[in-house]
Amino acid sequence: MESPFKVDILKGKVALLTGGGSGIGFEISTQFGNHGASVAIMGRRKNVVDRAISVLQSLGIPAVGFEGDVRKREDAKRVVKETVKHFGKLDILVNAAAGNFLVSAEDLSSNGFKTVIDIDAVGTFTMCHEALEYLKKGGPGRSSSTGGFILNISATLHYTASWYQIHVSAAKAAVDALTRNLALEWGTDYDIRVNGIAPGPIEDTAGMSKLAPHAREKIFF
Ligand code: HXC
Repeated sequence: MESPFKVDILKGKVALLTGGGSGIGFEISTQFGNHGASVAIMGRRKNVVDRAISVLQSLGIPAVGFEGDVRKREDAKRVVKETVKHFGKLDILVNAAAGNFLVSAEDLSSNGFKTVIDIDAVGTFTMCHEALEYLKKGGPGRSSSTGGFILNISATLHYTASWYQIHVSAAKAAVDALTRNLALEWGTDYDIRVNGIAPGPIEDTAGMSKLAPHAREKIFF
Protein backbone atom coordinates (compact mmCIF):
# COMPACT_ATOMS: atom_id res chain seq x y z
CA MET A 1 0.00 0.00 0.00
CA GLU A 2 1.30 3.43 -0.88
CA SER A 3 2.01 5.61 2.14
CA PRO A 4 -0.28 8.60 2.64
CA PHE A 5 2.61 10.43 4.32
CA LYS A 6 5.45 12.45 2.82
CA VAL A 7 8.37 10.10 2.31
CA ASP A 8 10.71 12.24 4.43
CA ILE A 9 8.25 13.18 7.16
CA LEU A 10 10.46 11.63 9.86
CA LYS A 11 13.78 12.74 8.41
CA GLY A 12 16.26 13.40 11.22
CA LYS A 13 14.10 11.72 13.87
CA VAL A 14 15.35 8.92 16.12
CA ALA A 15 12.87 6.27 17.23
CA LEU A 16 13.24 3.51 19.82
CA LEU A 17 10.76 0.65 19.64
CA THR A 18 10.33 -2.05 22.26
CA GLY A 19 9.15 -5.26 20.66
CA GLY A 20 10.32 -3.68 17.42
CA GLY A 21 11.74 -6.89 16.00
CA SER A 22 8.49 -8.62 15.14
CA GLY A 23 4.79 -8.15 14.47
CA ILE A 24 3.30 -4.69 14.73
CA GLY A 25 6.52 -3.32 16.23
CA PHE A 26 8.59 -4.42 13.25
CA GLU A 27 6.14 -2.99 10.75
CA ILE A 28 6.21 0.36 12.57
CA SER A 29 10.03 0.21 12.63
CA THR A 30 10.06 -0.37 8.88
CA GLN A 31 7.55 2.37 8.12
CA PHE A 32 9.33 4.85 10.36
CA GLY A 33 12.60 3.99 8.62
CA ASN A 34 11.00 4.25 5.17
CA HIS A 35 9.90 7.75 6.13
CA GLY A 36 13.37 8.92 7.14
CA ALA A 37 13.78 7.94 10.81
CA SER A 38 16.76 6.21 12.36
CA VAL A 39 15.54 3.19 14.28
CA ALA A 40 16.61 1.40 17.47
CA ILE A 41 14.95 -1.88 18.38
CA MET A 42 14.79 -3.46 21.83
CA GLY A 43 13.75 -7.07 22.24
CA ARG A 44 14.24 -10.10 24.46
CA ARG A 45 15.28 -12.49 21.71
CA LYS A 46 18.66 -11.66 20.18
CA ASN A 47 18.03 -13.67 17.03
CA VAL A 48 14.77 -11.82 16.37
CA VAL A 49 16.40 -8.44 16.96
CA ASP A 50 19.39 -9.33 14.77
CA ARG A 51 17.17 -10.52 11.93
CA ALA A 52 15.05 -7.38 12.08
CA ILE A 53 18.11 -5.13 12.05
CA SER A 54 19.51 -6.92 8.96
CA VAL A 55 16.23 -6.39 7.11
CA LEU A 56 16.05 -2.71 8.08
CA GLN A 57 19.67 -2.13 7.08
CA SER A 58 19.10 -3.90 3.76
CA LEU A 59 16.40 -1.30 3.11
CA GLY A 60 18.94 1.46 3.75
CA ILE A 61 17.47 2.35 7.15
CA PRO A 62 19.96 3.39 9.88
CA ALA A 63 19.16 0.77 12.52
CA VAL A 64 20.63 -0.64 15.70
CA GLY A 65 19.39 -3.47 17.92
CA PHE A 66 19.58 -4.05 21.67
CA GLU A 67 18.77 -7.18 23.60
CA GLY A 68 16.71 -6.29 26.66
CA ASP A 69 13.63 -7.02 28.73
CA VAL A 70 11.27 -4.14 29.54
CA ARG A 71 10.60 -5.82 32.91
CA LYS A 72 14.16 -5.00 33.98
CA ARG A 73 14.74 -1.37 34.87
CA GLU A 74 18.48 -1.71 34.21
CA ASP A 75 17.77 -2.97 30.67
CA ALA A 76 15.40 -0.07 30.02
CA LYS A 77 17.95 2.44 31.28
CA ARG A 78 20.80 0.86 29.29
CA VAL A 79 18.89 0.65 26.01
CA VAL A 80 17.62 4.25 26.19
CA LYS A 81 21.14 5.47 26.96
CA GLU A 82 22.75 3.36 24.24
CA THR A 83 20.22 4.59 21.70
CA VAL A 84 21.07 8.19 22.51
CA LYS A 85 24.78 7.37 22.45
CA HIS A 86 24.43 5.76 19.03
CA PHE A 87 22.16 8.29 17.30
CA GLY A 88 22.77 11.42 19.42
CA LYS A 89 19.22 11.92 20.70
CA LEU A 90 15.79 10.34 21.10
CA ASP A 91 12.61 11.73 19.53
CA ILE A 92 10.13 8.88 19.55
CA LEU A 93 9.50 5.98 21.93
CA VAL A 94 7.13 3.23 20.80
CA ASN A 95 6.05 0.72 23.45
CA ALA A 96 5.10 -2.35 21.45
CA ALA A 97 6.48 -5.14 23.67
CA ALA A 98 3.68 -7.35 24.95
CA GLY A 99 3.08 -10.76 26.43
CA ASN A 100 0.11 -12.92 25.64
CA PHE A 101 -1.29 -16.41 25.96
CA LEU A 102 -4.79 -17.79 26.09
CA VAL A 103 -5.86 -19.05 29.49
CA SER A 104 -9.08 -19.10 31.50
CA ALA A 105 -9.19 -16.91 34.61
CA GLU A 106 -9.64 -20.08 36.65
CA ASP A 107 -6.45 -21.64 35.33
CA LEU A 108 -4.31 -18.49 35.38
CA SER A 109 -1.88 -18.24 38.29
CA SER A 110 -1.19 -14.96 40.07
CA ASN A 111 2.29 -15.05 38.60
CA GLY A 112 0.92 -15.58 35.10
CA PHE A 113 -1.34 -12.54 35.59
CA LYS A 114 1.55 -10.51 37.00
CA THR A 115 3.88 -11.54 34.18
CA VAL A 116 1.71 -9.92 31.51
CA ILE A 117 1.02 -6.86 33.67
CA ASP A 118 4.78 -6.54 34.18
CA ILE A 119 5.56 -6.68 30.47
CA ASP A 120 2.71 -4.58 29.07
CA ALA A 121 1.89 -2.07 31.79
CA VAL A 122 4.89 -1.80 34.12
CA GLY A 123 7.26 -2.21 31.18
CA THR A 124 5.58 0.64 29.32
CA PHE A 125 5.78 2.87 32.39
CA THR A 126 9.43 2.00 32.98
CA MET A 127 10.43 2.76 29.39
CA CYS A 128 8.56 6.08 29.45
CA HIS A 129 10.20 6.97 32.74
CA GLU A 130 13.70 6.16 31.51
CA ALA A 131 13.12 8.07 28.25
CA LEU A 132 11.67 11.18 29.92
CA GLU A 133 14.88 13.15 30.32
CA TYR A 134 15.64 12.73 26.61
CA LEU A 135 12.11 13.41 25.34
CA LYS A 136 11.30 16.50 27.38
CA LYS A 137 11.68 19.93 25.78
CA GLY A 138 15.21 21.20 26.33
CA GLY A 139 16.50 17.63 26.69
CA PRO A 140 19.73 16.50 24.98
CA GLY A 141 19.59 17.35 21.27
CA ARG A 142 16.18 19.09 21.50
CA SER A 143 15.04 22.68 21.36
CA SER A 144 13.84 24.38 24.53
CA SER A 145 10.27 24.40 23.22
CA THR A 146 9.68 21.05 21.52
CA GLY A 147 9.30 17.72 23.26
CA GLY A 148 9.33 14.24 21.75
CA PHE A 149 6.62 11.67 21.20
CA ILE A 150 5.49 8.46 22.90
CA LEU A 151 3.26 5.90 21.19
CA ASN A 152 1.77 3.08 23.28
CA ILE A 153 0.37 0.03 21.52
CA SER A 154 -2.86 -1.07 23.14
CA ALA A 155 -5.72 -3.33 22.03
CA THR A 156 -9.50 -3.33 21.95
CA LEU A 157 -10.22 -6.50 23.92
CA HIS A 158 -10.69 -4.73 27.26
CA TYR A 159 -13.42 -2.39 25.99
CA THR A 160 -15.93 -5.11 26.77
CA ALA A 161 -14.73 -8.59 27.74
CA SER A 162 -12.77 -11.27 25.91
CA TRP A 163 -12.51 -14.97 26.56
CA TYR A 164 -9.27 -16.15 28.18
CA GLN A 165 -7.69 -12.69 28.10
CA ILE A 166 -8.27 -11.37 31.62
CA HIS A 167 -4.56 -10.67 32.16
CA VAL A 168 -4.09 -8.95 28.80
CA SER A 169 -7.34 -6.99 29.18
CA ALA A 170 -6.21 -5.68 32.57
CA ALA A 171 -2.76 -4.86 31.22
CA LYS A 172 -4.03 -2.99 28.16
CA ALA A 173 -6.56 -1.07 30.29
CA ALA A 174 -3.60 0.03 32.39
CA VAL A 175 -1.66 1.01 29.27
CA ASP A 176 -4.58 3.21 28.17
CA ALA A 177 -4.61 4.85 31.61
CA LEU A 178 -0.86 5.46 31.38
CA THR A 179 -1.29 7.04 27.95
CA ARG A 180 -3.97 9.47 29.15
CA ASN A 181 -2.20 10.44 32.36
CA LEU A 182 1.22 10.90 30.77
CA ALA A 183 -0.37 12.94 27.98
CA LEU A 184 -1.82 15.20 30.65
CA GLU A 185 1.25 15.52 32.87
CA TRP A 186 4.10 15.36 30.35
CA GLY A 187 2.20 17.15 27.58
CA THR A 188 1.60 20.06 29.92
CA ASP A 189 4.98 20.15 31.62
CA TYR A 190 7.36 18.97 28.90
CA ASP A 191 5.60 19.24 25.51
CA ILE A 192 5.78 15.46 25.05
CA ARG A 193 2.91 14.11 22.95
CA VAL A 194 1.70 10.79 24.33
CA ASN A 195 -0.70 8.78 22.21
CA GLY A 196 -1.99 5.25 22.03
CA ILE A 197 -3.29 3.14 19.20
CA ALA A 198 -5.51 0.12 19.62
CA PRO A 199 -5.18 -2.16 16.62
CA GLY A 200 -7.61 -4.98 16.08
CA PRO A 201 -6.42 -8.39 14.94
CA ILE A 202 -3.58 -8.16 12.42
CA GLU A 203 -2.67 -11.02 10.11
CA ASP A 204 0.75 -12.66 10.41
CA THR A 205 1.53 -11.44 13.94
CA ALA A 206 2.44 -13.54 16.98
CA GLY A 207 -0.70 -12.36 18.72
CA MET A 208 -2.93 -13.53 15.88
CA SER A 209 -1.33 -16.92 15.41
CA LYS A 210 -1.56 -17.51 19.16
CA LEU A 211 -5.04 -16.15 19.77
CA ALA A 212 -6.79 -17.12 16.58
CA PRO A 213 -4.83 -19.62 14.50
CA HIS A 214 -7.85 -20.24 12.27
CA ALA A 215 -8.86 -16.61 11.94
CA ARG A 216 -9.20 -16.80 8.20
CA GLU A 217 -12.09 -19.20 8.59
CA LYS A 218 -13.73 -17.67 11.65
CA ILE A 219 -15.04 -14.42 13.00
CA PHE A 220 -13.68 -13.86 16.49
CA PHE A 221 -13.73 -11.39 19.36
C1 HXC B 1 -1.02 -20.30 31.48
C2 HXC B 1 1.09 -19.37 31.51
C3 HXC B 1 1.23 -19.61 30.12
C4 HXC B 1 0.14 -20.23 29.44
C5 HXC B 1 3.05 -18.65 30.84
N1 HXC B 1 2.22 -18.78 31.90
N2 HXC B 1 2.45 -19.13 29.74
N3 HXC B 1 -0.02 -19.70 32.18
N4 HXC B 1 -0.97 -20.55 30.16
N5 HXC B 1 0.19 -20.48 28.13
C6 HXC B 1 2.52 -18.43 33.28
C7 HXC B 1 3.55 -19.39 33.82
O1 HXC B 1 2.94 -20.59 34.25
C8 HXC B 1 4.15 -18.60 34.96
O2 HXC B 1 3.35 -18.62 36.13
C9 HXC B 1 4.13 -17.19 34.42
O3 HXC B 1 3.13 -17.15 33.38
C10 HXC B 1 5.44 -16.78 33.83
O4 HXC B 1 5.77 -17.69 32.81
P1 HXC B 1 7.23 -17.78 32.17
O5 HXC B 1 7.18 -18.71 31.01
O6 HXC B 1 8.23 -18.03 33.25
O7 HXC B 1 7.47 -16.28 31.72
P2 HXC B 1 8.36 -15.73 30.59
O8 HXC B 1 9.40 -16.73 30.13
O9 HXC B 1 8.87 -14.44 31.07
O10 HXC B 1 7.36 -15.52 29.38
C11 HXC B 1 6.32 -14.63 29.51
C12 HXC B 1 5.29 -14.81 28.39
C13 HXC B 1 5.96 -14.37 27.12
C14 HXC B 1 4.17 -13.84 28.74
C15 HXC B 1 4.78 -16.21 28.34
O11 HXC B 1 7.04 -15.18 26.77
C16 HXC B 1 5.02 -14.32 25.96
O12 HXC B 1 3.81 -14.32 26.01
N6 HXC B 1 5.57 -14.22 24.82
C17 HXC B 1 4.76 -14.10 23.63
C18 HXC B 1 4.71 -12.72 23.19
C19 HXC B 1 3.55 -12.47 22.26
O13 HXC B 1 2.82 -13.35 21.85
N7 HXC B 1 3.40 -11.21 21.90
C20 HXC B 1 2.29 -10.79 21.08
C21 HXC B 1 1.30 -10.12 21.96
S1 HXC B 1 -0.16 -9.87 21.09
P3 HXC B 1 3.66 -19.66 37.34
O14 HXC B 1 2.57 -19.40 38.34
O15 HXC B 1 3.60 -21.02 36.75
O16 HXC B 1 5.02 -19.30 37.85
C22 HXC B 1 -1.03 -8.74 21.92
C23 HXC B 1 -2.22 -8.26 21.20
C24 HXC B 1 -3.46 -8.68 21.88
O17 HXC B 1 -0.73 -8.34 22.99
C25 HXC B 1 -4.70 -8.34 21.05
C26 HXC B 1 -4.88 -9.23 19.85
C27 HXC B 1 -6.17 -8.96 19.10
